[in-house]
Amino acid sequence: MPSLKRYTPLQIFMHAAASFPLVRLVFEAFTGGLTANPIQHIEQRTGRAALTLLILALAVTPLNTLFGWSELIKRRRALGLYAFLYACVHVIIFLNLDYGLAWSLIVQTVFEKPYILLGAAAFLLLIPLAVTSFDVWKARLGKRWKYLHMLLYFIVPIATLHYAWGKKGDFFHFSGEVGRPWAYAIVFIMLMILRIPAVRRFFASLRTRLRLPFSINKPQAS
Ligand code: HEM
Repeated sequence: MPSLKRYTPLQIFMHAAASFPLVRLVFEAFTGGLTANPIQHIEQRTGRAALTLLILALAVTPLNTLFGWSELIKRRRALGLYAFLYACVHVIIFLNLDYGLAWSLIVQTVFEKPYILLGAAAFLLLIPLAVTSFDVWKARLGKRWKYLHMLLYFIVPIATLHYAWGKKGDFFHFSGEVGRPWAYAIVFIMLMILRIPAVRRFFASLRTRLRLPFSINKPQAS
């Protein structure tokens, strides 16, 4: 059996935390805890897990800039792949359990309900990122790999709108059940601000100048 020593504490924590929503759903399935509407419950949990993990993957570079924690960069691919796994379960539940693979009804729903169309767009855009997330594709695509993976800057807001639009209320007028989608949107906006080169340089230099105690290792380009 491979020794746990092969893994860093961050790696162990990341795998445990990222697989927690799935383990919890399986546990709930066996203990009758999937609520009165199990399909909706699983859809909502897996949707939120996918979006949360995508945002965490986006947070890696800013966190490395702020804290100089370069090991995070190595964990980004796993975060993205976990997000894709949850998105796949989310979509499979929708197609199979919610709509019983009734394709004509599914296509009709996708075009009738704009929030489903947004979800489908986010999912389709995620596929090339998941497929090319491996080193072989990184080497093969060179610079284009980085541009391709910038799609994440579009996928996260699309998925957040998909979330907000599916809720009762008005996202842009802050009314109804839009508190959580707004929380995701605000974190996303903050992470994008931290990527602006001038802001990024400011925080990187601040960390070096202040010699912050939480500076975990040397700043690294990513
Ligand atoms: C073909 C693609 C997709 C379809 C058909 C779809 C379908 C749905 C449906 C039907 C719901 C509403 C569940 C309910 O409250 O009754 C939902 C919610 C949600 N979906 Fe999707 N989705 C798709 C892709 C995605 C993707 C790619 C993400 C994230 C990356 C995502 C994130 C979410 C979130 C966060 C919610 C709200 C969960 C909540 O209410 O707490 N979805 N989706």
